[in-house]
Amino acid sequence: MVDEQGRVSGQQFSEKPVLRLARKDILGIQEMSASEISLILDTAESFKEVSTREIKKVPTLRGKTVINLFYEASTRTRTSFEIAAKRLSADTINISTSTSSVAKGETLIDTAKNLEAMNPDCIIIRHSASGAPHLLARLMRVPVINAGDGAHEHPTQALLDLFTVREKKGKLAGLNVAIVGDILHSRVARSNIYGFTKMGAEVHLAGPRTMMPAGVEKLGVRWHSNLREVVPQADVIMMLRIQLERQGSGFFPTLREYSRFFGLNLEVLKEAKPEVLIMHPGPMNRGVEISPEVADGPFSVILDQVTNGVAVRMALLYLLVGGERETDRSSV
Ligand code: CP
Repeated sequence: MVDEQGRVSGQQFSEKPVLRLARKDILGIQEMSASEISLILDTAESFKEVSTREIKKVPTLRGKTVINLFYEASTRTRTSFEIAAKRLSADTINISTSTSSVAKGETLIDTAKNLEAMNPDCIIIRHSASGAPHLLARLMRVPVINAGDGAHEHPTQALLDLFTVREKKGKLAGLNVAIVGDILHSRVARSNIYGFTKMGAEVHLAGPRTMMPAGVEKLGVRWHSNLREVVPQADVIMMLRIQLERQGSGFFPTLREYSRFFGLNLEVLKEAKPEVLIMHPGPMNRGVEISPEVADGPFSVILDQVTNGVAVRMALLYLLVGGERETDRSSV
């Protein structure tokens, strides 16, 4: 629970907001421990209820400033971070490439230094270049959160996916999770592979070999060339967007063929467990990787993922920006 003064109470929290993550920034799931992930998910549970109140606001981050710096398009992530920050009473600023001096050729480093000169408390960045958030994090004193960098990681998406599965299934360890589609270009897939395996789930990948990173098995997952091989055992099926902008790059012959072999439709879903969860990070290509009947059907938790994104991002902002730093962080 979060009380009217914005304090998170409960067994594992003190009354005063205290930074409990052993890190300044959230750059990827690869470097996170299972206990850090659990702390974020537990904290998000406390914050989820705030969004169901008539007045959806707590004063936890009053007086703090959060900057959304988006160099790539986004509907869910940018809005979700903005709503999360506003529900914590932080001031939010949105910067996009088309409306900033980036359009005049200003570099990422100069942009970052100028923003820091205005004394914000957190910078959230999405960038098409893998590693851009890491560069910012090295340069800046304030916390940096990666909202998706190239084909590298999308840690907050994976955290909201983990939260959604844990909420629906009551656990993560021991679950069979199938991730289907273009793993090679997917930052969502990469972060989820790290996240689910760290939390004790078994991860299976399905998709054309041309869309699998070289040596993917070294990440502790199994690749299948046939969607029907992974569906019957899966507790969770996560469908990935086919990146239409890459069509014609030789990764698969035609969209129709891709859809025939790797699209999830009602016919394929008949082979799934009766309590399977269908996930998609969005944006979806309806009729390509997922049929509308499956996307909107009873097993779909796609909109729950979006709802939970706000709670997870509130938790991250609270843990990074709220309160004081703990001196002893060795317990995390
Ligand atoms: N899932 C996701 O990252 O969506 P957006 O691109 O709309 O933020």
